[in-house]
Amino acid sequence: MKFFLDTANVDEIREAHSMGMVDGVTTNPSLIAKEGRDFKEVITEICEIVDGPVSAEVISTDTEGMLKEARELVKINKNIVIKVPMTIDGIKATCRLSKEDIATNVTLVFSPLQALMAAKAGATYVSPFIGRLDDLAQDGMQLIEQIVEMYSNYAFDTEIIVASVRNPLHVLDAAMLGADIATIPFNVLGKFASHPMTDKGLKAFLDDWNKAKK
Ligand code: E4P
Repeated sequence: MKFFLDTANVDEIREAHSMGMVDGVTTNPSLIAKEGRDFKEVITEICEIVDGPVSAEVISTDTEGMLKEARELVKINKNIVIKVPMTIDGIKATCRLSKEDIATNVTLVFSPLQALMAAKAGATYVSPFIGRLDDLAQDGMQLIEQIVEMYSNYAFDTEIIVASVRNPLHVLDAAMLGADIATIPFNVLGKFASHPMTDKGLKAFLDDWNKAKK
């Protein structure tokens, strides 16, 4: 399973990268805005840290505007993936970009049929948002299960990025279902990196070691 980091914060990316936990990065307009930095400057810096897919989202809502932005963004680095919203215009843009061999990530996916359209349009990645579904008392993980089965039935190449991850269980469940990728916020990665029994066990080992040396 690949881990992407869901952030535009370069300090978080550097830290997780030093643990070998960053196979790629996803950003979105909200995450970029939170950093208060120039969009292209941040994306360029992320690409310098991580040698893997880096999703940069278009702001336009019409196909031609999306294509124009995409063709500029891919000039930044070979690893840029164009993130497009799951709209009719977004699907048209995905279809065109796929024909130009430009990698795409169809985002804001909330239903299996949206995911099916993304795959048929030739998306490289699809991003179902599980946390936002859970917030509406709909089972986000059930959506992942459906997409995994559907893509496997027809051998689609589109990779599933489990997005809107809110807690470690989301990552565990996604891994058990065989999702290709989870894009994880830095604080969630930190939550499952440690375990109180590991800390307790290590303390006991070191205490015993130091006692025996006296
Ligand atoms: C994914 O690509 C999105 O950037 C992200 O996972 C959205 O997460 P949120 O629902 O916590 O904003």
